Amino acid sequence: MINVVYNIKIYREVLRDTIKQDDLVVELGCHLGNSTKIMAELAPEGRIIALDKSEEAAQSMNDLTSSYANIKFLKADVRLHETLEKVAKRLKEQGGCDVLSIDLGGGHYPDTTFKVFFIWSSTLRPRETIIRNRGLLDFLHSSTSSEIIKSQEGWLESSGGDGVPPRLKELQLWSTNI
Ligand SMILES: C[S@@+](CC[C@H](N)C(=O)[O-])C[C@H]1O[C@@H](n2cnc3c(N)ncnc32)[C@H](O)[C@@H]1O
Repeated sequence: MINVVYNIKIYREVLRDTIKQDDLVVELGCHLGNSTKIMAELAPEGRIIALDKSEEAAQSMNDLTSSYANIKFLKADVRLHETLEKVAKRLKEQGGCDVLSIDLGGGHYPDTTFKVFFIWSSTLRPRETIIRNRGLLDFLHSSTSSEIIKSQEGWLESSGGDGVPPRLKELQLWSTNI
């Protein structure tokens, strides 16, 4: 299932309803780790791989990882191919991703958030994805269609069968300078 939210309280309620005790969770945009801590307590027998590119996040997450053995923090830009590749390799050794959680700034950048969601979820194929983003939530409720295409897992199954390499190449070209 793919759950799109904006309100931070609702985001954390959804985390509580979704994460199981042995889940392997990938969190994109953990900031200071306030939701990461909730995830780590929900999955004491699992593991949280939390990523953020900011210096502020790195300082706080280094403190948090010393209190929670099941959190692994990576300071990295999640738009980059090398970041996804590193996490995908680690997950392969650990049995795959159960939950993907994406919060790159709840009120902004629906296009970046969707792109990151599409590439990461198509590659990791999580059971559940939770996205915190106002623009995507607005789009979801403001749009209509006469057709139904619907996925059951945490990724878009109908567009996920094309193979990963073309998408990764596209991601490599995606520069922060444009
Ligand atoms: C709203 S905060 C996340 C809040 C956090 N999820 C929580 O529940 O407390 C958004 C975070 O996304 C991070 N971020 C935005 N774009 C990113 C990117 N391309 N790669 C890694 N982190 C990113 C920012 O540095 C920021 O810390």
